[in-house]
Amino acid sequence: MTAAVVLAAGKGTRLRSTTPKVLHEAAGRPLLGWVLHALAEVEVTRIVVVVGHGGEAVQAYAQSLGLPGLTCVTQTEQRGTGHAVRVALEAGALDDSDQVVVLPGDVPGVSADTVRRLVQGRGGAAAAVLTTRVTDPSGYGRIVRGADGAVAAIVEQADADDAQRAILEINAGLFAFRREDLQRALSALTTDNAQGEEYLTDTVALLTADGGVEGIAAPAEEVGGVNDRAQLAEVEALLRQRILTGLMRDGVRITDPAATYVDVGVTVQPDATLLPGVMLHGTTAIAAGAVIGPHSRLTDTVVEEDATVTFTVATGARIGPRATVGPYTHLRPGTILGAGSKAGEFVGMKKAVIGEGTKVPHLSYVGDAEIGRDVNVGAGVITVNYDGFNKFTTTIGDGAFIGSDSMLVAPIDIGTGAVVGAGSTITTDVPADALAVERAERRTVEGWAERRRRRHAAAQIPQTRDQKDE
Ligand code: UD1
Ligand code: CA
Repeated sequence: MTAAVVLAAGKGTRLRSTTPKVLHEAAGRPLLGWVLHALAEVEVTRIVVVVGHGGEAVQAYAQSLGLPGLTCVTQTEQRGTGHAVRVALEAGALDDSDQVVVLPGDVPGVSADTVRRLVQGRGGAAAAVLTTRVTDPSGYGRIVRGADGAVAAIVEQADADDAQRAILEINAGLFAFRREDLQRALSALTTDNAQGEEYLTDTVALLTADGGVEGIAAPAEEVGGVNDRAQLAEVEALLRQRILTGLMRDGVRITDPAATYVDVGVTVQPDATLLPGVMLHGTTAIAAGAVIGPHSRLTDTVVEEDATVTFTVATGARIGPRATVGPYTHLRPGTILGAGSKAGEFVGMKKAVIGEGTKVPHLSYVGDAEIGRDVNVGAGVITVNYDGFNKFTTTIGDGAFIGSDSMLVAPIDIGTGAVVGAGSTITTDVPADALAVERAERRTVEGWAERRRRRHAAAQIPQTRDQKDE
């Protein structure tokens, strides 16, 4: 039986952040989440997450994933990766498992396949370590091999001499140990090194006598650790590329993957199109035939079949089949657009339920509103939903016509088939099929403009230069 120990207690000093390292997100999921998801697909009986810095938040996140057999153990002082594993062992959290795999919480690119190879690949050796060859090994522990080619030791960058620093084979930080050998090696660790820590990596040299340490080759792109912001961006680009490749394989059209950003929790159906500059976050779901972009950012938003969404920002919205949204549209939480409806340019909506076929094409604010089917909302219409203290609701019946530049002062109900004349400020309910128009009476003064121009011209005459010179 295998137990897994995930190391997540470090501060991540090099990120220069108040957020604990493993909670930094990449492609919509915290670093620790990526590692735990990979682990969830592999046969392990226990997952012990070692927490420390920001321990409460890290523990709350780890437990929110609901993985069977997951527990957290607190490492109060971060005295090194070896110390962290020792804390997990001494807490009695590993049950009676005879193998212990150790994963750093900051290696989000690792795949379930690679973790599985580690869990199954130790054979008769005391330990196995994932290694890879890189062009720039800086920051990583170097794999030192003996004359026979077997793994003899891991030397940390800070402790390495020039010859060791030139080694391009590095320690990915993932290990599998026979449990009793691990226990013995951990109790022999010292802090006699450049960082004054108990290095987990020092167990390797200690175990060469007890059956040796197997090196298992891992794909280089999977095992990049995140220690600083540049590495975080690199690993995020890799995860994003994987997500997009998966979507394209499933039949999604992505015209420029380098300019498309889809988080891991998003679903996109085959035959949907994502144009450049699209960012899909949270639990966003895009149906077949929908065209998103260019340049739209959708968070926790559902887009149904054949809808088009252009230059739009939407959060917590639902966009019905064949609806058209944008350009320059902002849909806030609680917006539900019916089938074939429209939210056009410079339209903002919040908690607005828009019926089938209803059009809000230009320059409007619709908030706290329920609008029926086939309503036309003219340019510049505003549902006046806020009196400075409370929010109020506007309802508009099927087939109503709201003239341009009207203010509907809520709470208010516009009846089915009613017409509101352009430029009206409507403060009380309008009955079904009625016309409501509210404007100041117009005054027309014939010839006034012409007289004004003449008065103005006459006043100018003494000011001309010719006359002044005389
Ligand atoms: C470590 C390895 C290095 C390897 C690299 C791979 C050691 C000594 N070095 O270096 O050989 O190439 O990972 O990415 O193991 N942690 C704790 N408690 C601690 C210290 C660390 O939980 O007391 C956790 C950190 O939160 C992190 C992980 O262990 O998730 C690795 O620690 P980190 O400081 O990032 O190690 P590296 O310097 O990257
Ligand atoms: Ca690291």
